[in-house]
Amino acid sequence: MKTVDINNIKIIIVDNYEQMSKKAAAMIEAQVLLKRNSVLGLATGSTPEGMYQELVKKYQENEVNFQDVTTFNLDEYYPIASDNPQSYAYYMYEHFFKHVNVREHYQNIPNGSNTNVEETCQAYDRAIEASGNIDLQILGIGTNGHIGFNEPDVKFEAGTHLVELDEETIEANARFFEHIEDVPKQALSMGIRNIMHSKKIILMASGQNKAKAIHAMLRGPVTPELPASILQLHQDVTLIIDEAAAGEL
Ligand code: GLP
Repeated sequence: MKTVDINNIKIIIVDNYEQMSKKAAAMIEAQVLLKRNSVLGLATGSTPEGMYQELVKKYQENEVNFQDVTTFNLDEYYPIASDNPQSYAYYMYEHFFKHVNVREHYQNIPNGSNTNVEETCQAYDRAIEASGNIDLQILGIGTNGHIGFNEPDVKFEAGTHLVELDEETIEANARFFEHIEDVPKQALSMGIRNIMHSKKIILMASGQNKAKAIHAMLRGPVTPELPASILQLHQDVTLIIDEAAAGEL
């Protein structure tokens, strides 16, 4: 393991995906031990799958208890039903919620099936604020530098909102669907404002295909063209990345 700071961001470089997953799970465990009623911001995608597996193991071994934890997921496709296997609600249930004791009413995911998008987004922002804001936000990163589904050219001041997905994102996520045409073209996402109000942020990345985005977010200018670059302006961000994702630093 190596550690380095670049532009106000703490970076932990580990050998591989497994180590990245273990480190992230250890930090969530520590967060919940230090504050039992933590508000966790959660992410989906391939990147955090191993982290959820580790957390489930810790829960089964009685190392961590999610009884008083509240969770807010970053994003959800739109429109999509929560029982659709491609939905992020389904992902969260399969990878995490069905195995641990986060109470159902404390699990929050943007509602991809409410046609009143405005109402969904405002309710989500209000719920995050009412919880006292997120204590620890977990992020992945898209190959184009997106966080959540905040695509390039996002408005930094936005709260939860409806997003038109980029071609690059649709192509990257096509691997989860039978046909590329099946990938939803829109999504609901927490905005950069919600993410920046989190007290702590952990961003995870693994693999060479993330190296360009990691380099740009750390070394490049802060710009809406590379949404993750805004994290240079947050006071408590830790990156956990493997050697391959750190390849261009
Ligand atoms: C997806 C999600 C993001 C995720 C990113 C990377 O589209 N909306 O929250 O971080 O893209 O996904 P993966 O971890 O599968 O590479």
